[in-house]
Amino acid sequence: MQNFSISEKDFLSFKTLIYEESGICFNAVNRVILESKIESAMIKANIDNILDFYCFLSENRDSFFRFIDSITTNLTKFFRAKKHFEILQNKIIPKILLNRQASSCLKIWSAGCSTGEEAYSLAITCLETAGVNIENIQIFASDISLESLTGAKEGKYSAYKLAEVSPYYLSKYFDKEGGYYIVKDFLRKCIVFDYHNLKNTPPHRNIDIIFCRNVLIYFDIEFQKLTVNKFCDILTNDGYLFLGNSESLFGMDTRFNFNNIDGAIVYTKYLGD
Ligand SMILES: C[S@@+](CC[C@H](N)C(=O)[O-])C[C@H]1O[C@@H](n2cnc3c(N)ncnc32)[C@H](O)[C@@H]1O
Repeated sequence: MQNFSISEKDFLSFKTLIYEESGICFNAVNRVILESKIESAMIKANIDNILDFYCFLSENRDSFFRFIDSITTNLTKFFRAKKHFEILQNKIIPKILLNRQASSCLKIWSAGCSTGEEAYSLAITCLETAGVNIENIQIFASDISLESLTGAKEGKYSAYKLAEVSPYYLSKYFDKEGGYYIVKDFLRKCIVFDYHNLKNTPPHRNIDIIFCRNVLIYFDIEFQKLTVNKFCDILTNDGYLFLGNSESLFGMDTRFNFNNIDGAIVYTKYLGD
């Protein structure tokens, strides 16, 4: 297919189909990205008519899931926004634990975990925090992209992905195999990776810390609000919500308070006056 592009009407049909399934929002700015994803998916499915492809996706659930997977942006890295992990270790986890019985579990959710780097960074941060051990952390990590989740569960990363991770963490938490680092079993076992579409009801309750970073930017305001309100419902009263550095709840009608901890913005539940 040469110079592939679609009509305004077809663009709107695909935009709606994707939005209703995932909250991911395409517009005039990122339209070319969608067009190129559609083109690749049509070639893969051996379909050369856009209407036929639309019908094919509407009728084949598996192919539709794979298509949604293909339009996600999965860019991530270990210890992305380092400050978040520093305040977790030095301020937030110790504060939460102060009010807990020694036997209670710290529950963390990486919502939109992509290929797992964020969840493993969270697990390492917990284990490096005084008073935390493997028995008292539960980390859930979820994504809509099954392909990313497969990579996350495997926990095998090329050396360049870990270039910014300290040699101390590398030897403590990874095994080296050729040009790759593989997450050690004890670290992998701290995390449960699973499919979850943020459109749906959260799969867990009483979560202490939610990381949903660099995910809301792909949603429109309406879907962002729906998503964070669901987070509020399942967060413990002394829990924290982390968003990406380019995301904000500013001006949005939510039940969250802003907190500036050492220069990082984190959200806590508004519990009334
Ligand atoms: C850019 S990555 C962010 C990864 C990680 N949180 C970070 O900040 O490095 C965005 C992730 O959100 C996921 N995502 C997008 N829409 C989603 C939805 N409706 N439900 C669950 N995950 C979604 C994508 O599949 C992608 O892996």
